[in-house]
Amino acid sequence: MSFARIVGTGSFLPSNVISNADLVSQLASRGIETSDDWIYSRSGIQSRRFADRQSQTSDLAVAAAFSALSAAAIEADAVDLIVVATTTPDAIFPSTACLVQRKLGIRNGCAAFDIQAVCGGFIYALTVADALIRATSVRTALVIGAETFSRLLDFEDRSTCVLFGDGAGAVILSASEEPGILGAALHADGHHSDILKVSGSIAGGAVLGDPFLRMDGPAVFKLAVGALQSVSEEVAAKCGLAMSDFTWVVPHQANIRIMEATARKLGIPVDRLVATVHEHGNTSAASIPLALDQAYRDGRICRGDRVLLHAVGAGVTWGALAMQA
Ligand code: ACO
Repeated sequence: MSFARIVGTGSFLPSNVISNADLVSQLASRGIETSDDWIYSRSGIQSRRFADRQSQTSDLAVAAAFSALSAAAIEADAVDLIVVATTTPDAIFPSTACLVQRKLGIRNGCAAFDIQAVCGGFIYALTVADALIRATSVRTALVIGAETFSRLLDFEDRSTCVLFGDGAGAVILSASEEPGILGAALHADGHHSDILKVSGSIAGGAVLGDPFLRMDGPAVFKLAVGALQSVSEEVAAKCGLAMSDFTWVVPHQANIRIMEATARKLGIPVDRLVATVHEHGNTSAASIPLALDQAYRDGRICRGDRVLLHAVGAGVTWGALAMQA
């Protein structure tokens, strides 16, 4: 088989919808001032979902996985690789992927592991799964992006807590003679690790350092647009494609202004962007598979369409992937 191809997508969102107005009033009760206008004009976000205290990232991941398995019309036991991109694992170990395998009732001994590349995680995971399908005996991979990012938020820090949400998306990637993933590129530069981080760690039974997400927003914005532009051009060139060959671009849903600024630099009309940030907020590694699932299910992405995915995240990590649907 020459390709790995997406044959089913799925997603799951917690039922608890938090609108900007809800967040504004919750923050006001703590004496923190913000507004729907500030949040929407800076980020495009109108609402996000927050998981309840009982739900763990693996619960969201499993719900998205069932939805993708059903779309692909395959049984869980047919999966022979599980890759979960997450920054908010249930536990330090075992991996969330192993917990997903158990919760799905898969007993075939397939490989399962997590990828931690923050908002770049889903493209990293899809690229690794593609490579394993093409290089090994793996035929069917379950690739998930799942996050409970709300647990990393400091609700005293209005510059970050308004931007993120929880959710999960999944794809089934199968070995295929028909073109699927056409090419990808992954990058990282740890010299920028300070601009977006949760620096705390666990040692001796205590959290050492700061347990919350901290971000230099303007620095992230500036770096993101340049990185997304260059890696998208790199992947298009590698695949022998022009930007005009892509019917859809599914970006990491950090911020509508980053998404549109990058599209403009790439010469891509903004109406070719699949955007869900307004209703999901930034769900980190879950954002691309959530947006992909929406665009497959509502009929925007059709068989044969060329689709460009790109993402940048803390680390910093960044990547792009070109595929045929
Ligand atoms: N409500 C009201 N005012 C606020 C809020 C808020 N929620 N948060 C910050 N402000 C204030 C600041 O205190 C500041 O006030 P001051 O000028 O009196 O000091 C003012 O708004 C402007 O702050 P800036 O940080 O300069 O605002 P900016 O226009 O740059 O927008 C933002 C901030 C939205 C974070 C922007 O920098 C951005 O989009 N950065 C990209 C970051 C991003 O999207 N990160 C997502 C995670 S990274 C990823 O997924 C790749």
